[in-house]
Amino acid sequence: MSNNTLIQACLLAALGFNSTRVKFPEAGTIDADPYNLDLPIVPAAITVPRSTAQVANVVKCAASNGYKVQSRSGGHSYGNHGLGGTDGAIVVDLKDLKQFSMDESTYIASIGSGMLLDEVTHKLYDNGKRAMAHGVCPQVGVGGHFTIGGLGPTARQWGSSLDHVEEVEVVLANSSIVRASNTQNQDVLFAIKGAAASFGIVTEFKVRTEPAPDVAVQYTYELILGNITERARIMVDWQDFISDPDLSRKFASIMIVFEHGMLLSGDFYGSKKEFDDLGLADRFPIRKPGNVAILTDWLGMTGHAVEELALGIVGGIPLHFYAKSMAFTRDSLMSPSTFEKLFDYLDNTDKGTLLWLIYFDLQSGATSDVPNNSTAYAHRDTLYWLQSYVVNLVGPVSNTTTAFLEGINNLIAQDVPSANTRAYPGYVDPLMPNPQWRYWGSNLPKLEKIKAAIDPNDVFHNPQSVKPRKQAP
Ligand SMILES: Cc1cc2nc3c(=O)[nH]c(=O)nc-3n(C[C@H](O)[C@H](O)[C@H](O)COP(=O)(O)OP(=O)(O)OC[C@H]3O[C@@H](n4cnc5c(N)ncnc54)[C@H](O)[C@@H]3O)c2cc1C
Ligand SMILES: *[C@@H]1O[C@H](CO)[C@@H](O)[C@H](O)[C@H]1NC(C)=O
Ligand SMILES: *[C@@H]1O[C@H](CO)[C@@H](O)[C@H](O)[C@H]1NC(C)=O
Ligand SMILES: *[C@@H]1O[C@H](CO)[C@@H](O)[C@H](O)[C@H]1NC(C)=O
Ligand SMILES: *[C@@H]1O[C@H](CO)[C@@H](O)[C@H](O)[C@H]1NC(C)=O
Ligand SMILES: *[C@@H]1O[C@H](CO)[C@@H](O)[C@H](O)[C@H]1NC(C)=O
Repeated sequence: MSNNTLIQACLLAALGFNSTRVKFPEAGTIDADPYNLDLPIVPAAITVPRSTAQVANVVKCAASNGYKVQSRSGGHSYGNHGLGGTDGAIVVDLKDLKQFSMDESTYIASIGSGMLLDEVTHKLYDNGKRAMAHGVCPQVGVGGHFTIGGLGPTARQWGSSLDHVEEVEVVLANSSIVRASNTQNQDVLFAIKGAAASFGIVTEFKVRTEPAPDVAVQYTYELILGNITERARIMVDWQDFISDPDLSRKFASIMIVFEHGMLLSGDFYGSKKEFDDLGLADRFPIRKPGNVAILTDWLGMTGHAVEELALGIVGGIPLHFYAKSMAFTRDSLMSPSTFEKLFDYLDNTDKGTLLWLIYFDLQSGATSDVPNNSTAYAHRDTLYWLQSYVVNLVGPVSNTTTAFLEGINNLIAQDVPSANTRAYPGYVDPLMPNPQWRYWGSNLPKLEKIKAAIDPNDVFHNPQSVKPRKQAP
C-alpha cells in the first residue's frame, strides 16, 4: 500500500470506520474552509472525532506516519493555523466536542474545546448567570482563544481567557490523554496557557467563572478631526488617560483610526454616573452626543461588539486580509512627534485599499497581575496593543497594502524599538520574521525545552509554532 492509502486506512479506523468523519481535500478547492482567503491551504486530511479517545487515535495515526497535526476549533486563525498553516497537515476538527457542565458549588465550568465564544457566553449565563473574559467575535473558537490569550473588554477585571483556566484534558504527541493543572503536569499547563498549538490538543477546559455584570455603559464617540498635530494630540491625550495607574478596571477602551475618521469606543462595567465621572466627554473633541447605551442584560452587552463588528470590516466571515500587532508598556510610550509622524504617514502613503484600520486597545489591569513567567503568554506588562488590519474585498491583499502595514511598524519602531519586538500570538502575522520570539518573548527558551521533552518529533506543528530545543552536541 502507498503511504497515502496507509494513512487513509488508519484514520478511518481511528474514527470507528465512519467515513463521514474524515475527508481528504482536493488541491484548488476551498474544501478546507479557510478563514483567511489569502492563504488557501490544502490539508492531507480533515478529521472530525467525536470523543477524546478518537482524537488520540488520530494523533497516533498521524505521528506514526510522519504527518504534522493541528486542531481546529473555531477556525478563526489569521494564518489558518487551524488547518496546519501550510499544506499537508492532518487536521483535527473539534466541532463535535461541545460538552458543557457547571459545578454549582464552585462555579467552575467544564467546556468542550469545540465550542464557539457565543455558545460559551450563553451556556455560562444560563447556568447561574456566570461569565468569563474573552474577545468579542462570536464565531471564534475556545480551542484557539483560551490557549493563546483571549483578550476582551472584561480582561482588565478578570484577566485574559487563559487566566480563567484551572485544568485541561489534553492529548499529547505520544497519543496519551492527560490532565494538567497546578497540581499535575504543571509544565504542560504552562505551555497550554499561551502556546497550546505546539504542544497538544485540548479536549476540555475547566474554567473559573465570575458573576456576570448587571450593568454596563457602552460608548462610541466619533472624534472631530483636525490637522496632523491635532490628531496626534488626541492620541497623546488618550495615552495619558489610560496610563493613569488608578484607572478603573471596569473601563475598557479602544481608539480606532480608519479611512473616514477616528472613534473612541468601549465598555464600562458600572453605572452611568461613574462613567460620566471619568470625564471622557470633556476631555476629547467628540461629536456630541455620541452613542452611549446603558445595558442591564449581559447577553445584550456581549451581543454588541460595537468596536469591531459595527464597522463591518472585521467580521466573522472569511476574507482576504492581513494584520500586524505591536505592544506598548508604561516605559515605552509614543511621543507627540511619533504620533505626528504616524498621521503624516497615514495621510500620504499609497495603501492600495480603503479598508484599513488601526486599533489602539487598552490592556493592563488584571492581565498584568500575573507574573510574566507563570504562563506561556508573556506580554503581561502591555499597557495597550496596536493592531493594524487591511482587507481586500475582491482578491488577494496586494504588496502595496502589505507594505503599508509594515511601514507603520517600522516607523514606530524607529522611536519606540521595544514595541516592535512583541506581537500578540492571537493575531497571527504569517510574514513576520522571528515570530516565536515576538509571540512568547522571554518564555521561549522554557517552551522549547518542554517541547523537546513532550513532542521531540514536532508532531504539533505550524509555520510559527515552538520548535524543540536542539540538544547541545
Ligand atoms: C474576527 C476576529 C476577532 C477577534 N477578536 C479577538 C479578540 O477580541 N481578542 C483576542 O484575544 N483575540 C481575538 N481574535 C483572535 C483569536 O483569538 C484567534 O484567532 C484564535 O486563535 C482563534 O481561535 P479559533 O479556535 O477560532 O481558531 P483555529 O484556527 O481553530 O485555531 C487557532 C490555533 O489554535 C490551535 N487550537 C485550536 N483548538 C485547539 C485545542 N483545542 N488545543 C490546542 N490547540 C488548539 C489551532 O491548532 C491553531 O493553531 C479575533 C479573531 C478574529 C478572526
Ligand atoms: C494645526 O492646527 C492648529 C490649530 O488650528 C495650528 O495652531 C497648527 O499650526 C496647525 N498645524 C499644522 C501642522 O498645520
Ligand atoms: C519567575 O521569575 C521570578 C523572578 O525572576 C523567579 O523568582 C521565579 O522563580 C520564576 N518562576 C518560574 C515559575 O520560573
Ligand atoms: C509580492 O511580493 C512577493 C514577495 O516579495 C513576490 O513574490 C510577488 O511576486 C509580489 N506580487 C506582486 C503582485 O507584485
Ligand atoms: C519578564 O520579566 C523579566 C524579569 O522581570 C524580564 O527580564 C523579561 O524581559 C520579561 N519578559 C517579558 C516578555 O516581558
Ligand atoms: C507520553 O508522554 C508524556 C509526556 O512526555 C509522558 O509523561 C507519558 O509517560 C508518555 N506516555 C507513554 C505511554 O509513553
